[in-house]
Amino acid sequence: METAEIRRRWLRFFESKGHTVVPSAPLLYDDPNLLFVNAGMVPFKPYFLGQETPPWNRATSVQKCVRTADIDEVGKTSRHGTFFQMNGNFSFGDYFKAGAIEYAWELLTTSQQAGGYGLDPDKLWVTVFENDDEAAEMWVELTGISRERVVRRGMADNYWSMGVPGPCGPCSEIYVDRGPEYGPDGGPTVDEDRFMEIWNLVFMQSERGPGQSKDDFPILGDLPRQNIDTGLGLERLASILQGVDNMYEIDEVYPVLEKAAEMAGKSYGVTGGQTAESSHPDDVRLRVVADHVRSGLMLIGDGVTPGNEGRGYVLRRMLRRAVRSMRLLGVEGPSLPELLPVSLDRMSRSYPELKRDWDRISDIAYSEEEAFRRTLAAGTTILDVAVNRTKSSGGKTLAGAEAFALHDTYGFPIDLTLEMAAEQGLQVDEQGFRTLMAEQRNRAKADARAKKSGHTDTHVYREIADTIGGAVDFLGYSQVESDARVAGLLINGESRSRAREGDEIELVLDRTPFYAESGGQLADHGVIELGGALVRIEDVQKPISNLSVHRGIVLSGELGVGEQANARVDVDRRRSVSRAHTATHILHQSLRDALSSTATQAGSENAPGRLRFDFSWSSPVSAETFSEIEAHINDVVLSDQPVSADVMDKATALESGALAMFGEKYGDQVRVVSIGDGSWSKEFCGGTHALSVGQLGVVKLLSESSIGSGVRRVEALVGADAYRHLARESAVVSQLTQVVKGRPEELPERIAGILARLKDAEREINAMRSAQVLAGAGELLGRAAQIEGVQVLAHDTAAEVGGDDLRRLALDLRARLGEERPCVVALTSVAKGRPVIIVATNAAAREQGVKAGALVKVAAATLGGGGGGKDDVAQGGGTDVTKTTEALAAVTQSVRQAVAGR
Ligand code: ALA
Repeated sequence: METAEIRRRWLRFFESKGHTVVPSAPLLYDDPNLLFVNAGMVPFKPYFLGQETPPWNRATSVQKCVRTADIDEVGKTSRHGTFFQMNGNFSFGDYFKAGAIEYAWELLTTSQQAGGYGLDPDKLWVTVFENDDEAAEMWVELTGISRERVVRRGMADNYWSMGVPGPCGPCSEIYVDRGPEYGPDGGPTVDEDRFMEIWNLVFMQSERGPGQSKDDFPILGDLPRQNIDTGLGLERLASILQGVDNMYEIDEVYPVLEKAAEMAGKSYGVTGGQTAESSHPDDVRLRVVADHVRSGLMLIGDGVTPGNEGRGYVLRRMLRRAVRSMRLLGVEGPSLPELLPVSLDRMSRSYPELKRDWDRISDIAYSEEEAFRRTLAAGTTILDVAVNRTKSSGGKTLAGAEAFALHDTYGFPIDLTLEMAAEQGLQVDEQGFRTLMAEQRNRAKADARAKKSGHTDTHVYREIADTIGGAVDFLGYSQVESDARVAGLLINGESRSRAREGDEIELVLDRTPFYAESGGQLADHGVIELGGALVRIEDVQKPISNLSVHRGIVLSGELGVGEQANARVDVDRRRSVSRAHTATHILHQSLRDALSSTATQAGSENAPGRLRFDFSWSSPVSAETFSEIEAHINDVVLSDQPVSADVMDKATALESGALAMFGEKYGDQVRVVSIGDGSWSKEFCGGTHALSVGQLGVVKLLSESSIGSGVRRVEALVGADAYRHLARESAVVSQLTQVVKGRPEELPERIAGILARLKDAEREINAMRSAQVLAGAGELLGRAAQIEGVQVLAHDTAAEVGGDDLRRLALDLRARLGEERPCVVALTSVAKGRPVIIVATNAAAREQGVKAGALVKVAAATLGGGGGGKDDVAQGGGTDVTKTTEALAAVTQSVRQAVAGR
């Protein structure tokens, strides 16, 4: 039975039992405790916890899940896959144990002809929580299963929670006996390979607190109602119904494995044993490829892009492991363009949206492989050098510093270094590596702290916050000036009661019109006046949430905590930043219109008169599209629609189509900024904005570039800054028209013509120069010096002469100096802006131990480069053209040493 069919039957069955079919939530779910959705119940958590009222009492779903804790086990065992689907049926205070047991049994054992899965009831085993007599009895009574096949297990096995605080309860698991060829008899407690768990019924009734292990955490209390949460591993059931050994061999996965094997010219499973556990390394690699390619497809499909942390890193690691495994299988060329379409073909049967998004998905995946191939090429050489060095000094462990350098400079992930070093029989000092990583992280953190929140630890801020009810009232949406009371004062991170002229201070007011840097919008500047004192404010940050801290310098007078103050924002700057922020919203929507709705915001900075906007997109935006976007933005500006902000509850905001930035946390109440009626642009946003888009005047896009794989950046100017930029450019154009005597539209052609002629002229001059040098060879002979009986002709041609011509000249001079007496010719020139050196020796010189290759090495080192060659003639180069004379002197010196040393 195809996996897609198992899925269909599941949903149909539970629908017929009064369950509402709920589509799978995306793998990225807004849950701070989870990297990815890892169980079918995740989207229903608020219902289980009683935080929200479910719209139905019964639901069913087939949920996409990713678990990566056991990523290293993938391929080695039959049980670990990173992406899998969990079929679930859920009851919210409706049926409980008996209902769950009856439904499960009915669906599993009903014949395939009658729409069930047709499992043999005699091959099924179940487990229950150790003291759950009720469940044990129900199994026997309701299903007729023999008592011997109902097994009790402890908390670690039969008490389910998400591993983190949340809903939990005792559970009951259903196992299938796969037969004696998989292991000894005796049930799941004896062998979990032979007895494969397929379905877990959780009797969810409590809420747990924090705790590390599976069987040690506090139970905080009962849930408002008793619920059912079940999870059936779709891939596991598929492997049983398809009669294959493991999940890598089912219809949704195997075709990728087969394709990979074909590309590598390997036969899967031929050398292996019966089960995954005893298989050949190539088989393990093929399974890794099949698993990771599918997970990559599904993750990118749900909006993850490869990156260096969090979810992005998990994806990157999987794609890279897939590519790397292909290499180990002997496939050198790009693999994903062959493999990913195979996975698409299979997975789109259940997830047709993958086809719709295919351009984006394949783009992201293929660029990641390309980037990794470049990394591999550079890093592998460096790693080889490090490995050889370690081996030749008799070491068995690659230093942590080497692994760190590979990571830091070449983006070589540590797991890859471990793997590749192990292949060469070396271990890696992982501890040393981690120490260096931690040091680097701490440095970065300390830097960030020093920049953003002084050197203070946050308890000082907390204390101040407590005196004003935890939050500073922000007035800045409607006011740029306000009276306020000084609630706290800090100098060098320490609380003070007073400050004087010249002090650099941090000032907390009970309320403020100043906008603190957040959401990409820079802080307001301005002044705070109080009593006789004047403070210039140059930054505002929130070192803890809801507490705006003004940073500035006391220009005159003295001030103290508790005094009344008047805070005034620099209005021009504020307006200019607000215009930039509004321009950012227009740009965001225009990019989505022009490219696709997957071009989502990844970061931004709104500064006075300019903005920077980062978005997920993996290929360059063409010049033409870029100008169209700019033209469109300026059309929107001309439409002069009002910009408005509304506060509403999050669900309403999302329903109305407002864009939320992925990865941001929002409270229940959110602020939504709309342009016009909001039908075109509406975003979650806490920033300040122009009153209408017409206030932006003009928007000029400056550039569009890549800032890392899958993320691009647009920079732009807004308002007066945009105008000034355009005016400056126009002045330059008019100067140029005067210089080249042409109309503005003729400039490109004229200048291209001038440059082409210039290039021709330079070529001609170079040709003449080198001809002159070659023609003057005879003259040079007289310049040969006698050094320890060797004739040394060292000469800097100081001209543009290519390596071949210079070599010809050197050989010509060597011939003219004759064979009788030892001679050395060393010549330097410049070719394409880089220094070149050629050394030639005759046989008599070589007999004296004077060798061209060695001499070139010395010279090239002086030139900042490298080189070498044979004893009779050798060539080298470098980077520093000012060092040619010095290089020749080094040659002469080496000749002297070589001869004298004999
Ligand atoms: N939530 C349960 C599990 O993940 C069904 O096993």
